[in-house]
Amino acid sequence: MRGKALNVGVAPVTYGQGDRPPRGDYARARSDYTCEQNHAQYRTEDHDTYRRLYTRQLRQLPDLACPEFIGAVGQLGAPEHIPHFDDVSERLLKATGWQIVGVPGLIPEEAFFALLADRKFPVTDWIRRPDEFDYVVEPDIFHDLFGHVPLLFDPMFADYMQAYGRGGLKASRLDACELLARLYWYTVEFGLIQTSEGLRAYGAGILSSAGELRHSVMSSKPRRIAFDLRRLMRSRYKIDSYQSSYFVIDSFAQLFDATAPDFTPIYSEVRALREVEAGAVLAGEREFKAH
Ligand code: PHE
Ligand code: CO
Repeated sequence: MRGKALNVGVAPVTYGQGDRPPRGDYARARSDYTCEQNHAQYRTEDHDTYRRLYTRQLRQLPDLACPEFIGAVGQLGAPEHIPHFDDVSERLLKATGWQIVGVPGLIPEEAFFALLADRKFPVTDWIRRPDEFDYVVEPDIFHDLFGHVPLLFDPMFADYMQAYGRGGLKASRLDACELLARLYWYTVEFGLIQTSEGLRAYGAGILSSAGELRHSVMSSKPRRIAFDLRRLMRSRYKIDSYQSSYFVIDSFAQLFDATAPDFTPIYSEVRALREVEAGAVLAGEREFKAH
């Protein structure tokens, strides 16, 4: 039984300017913002939405997604039904020591960082409505699971995500979350990687998007710039359209090594520099050509 009396009272969360309350039921959440995956809530229509999203996206992966993602996406299980988080966690725990945990939706930064530092990835447990098939405002289970979880099976990327969580707890104390969030945005959500087969996507925001996956790798419109930590922390980003800039890494090892140094002095350095608008290219910057 779960009634109002058991409400631990965590506050709903939104980021940016929104005029709607967040969709999730935060009364179900524990104090660390995790909740049981309420698998019985899903209707036939929800499983159907998941399967249709999954198959549409799977078809696009060859040539566009990085090989580590393609190699691991099957670990999510058969797409006929929305997976049980416990089943995915069992496989993930064996592979890299990570687990996935349910959340009602977006959670506060500190709670998010603490989970990552503990090798737990929060996955929203609800799925978009059929009329939101192509675009959903808040991240849902399809974005969180399909976009983020396959790369957690990669040991190097898995370590990067934990380091990011620890770095986030530190950034909160240094009041540097805005700068660190740009790193997340331009790597974990919208990162591109140069492979022997050409440019590929590894960011979850791209890999879970029907349209942006092709745009990010193939379109001649956006700028694609080599990963540079300071440049990236200076760069603003768009949240309501395809990105106009992407940053390209050579390998997950490069990403891990470039972000290993203490960011404390780097935050100060970056604060002293001008911000760069999304889509801008600075003098002397080399661009990667579309695939
Ligand atoms: N090295 C960073 C710091 O000292 C931590 C970090 C690692 C942040 C990886 C993000 C990604 O703050
Ligand atoms: Co995401």
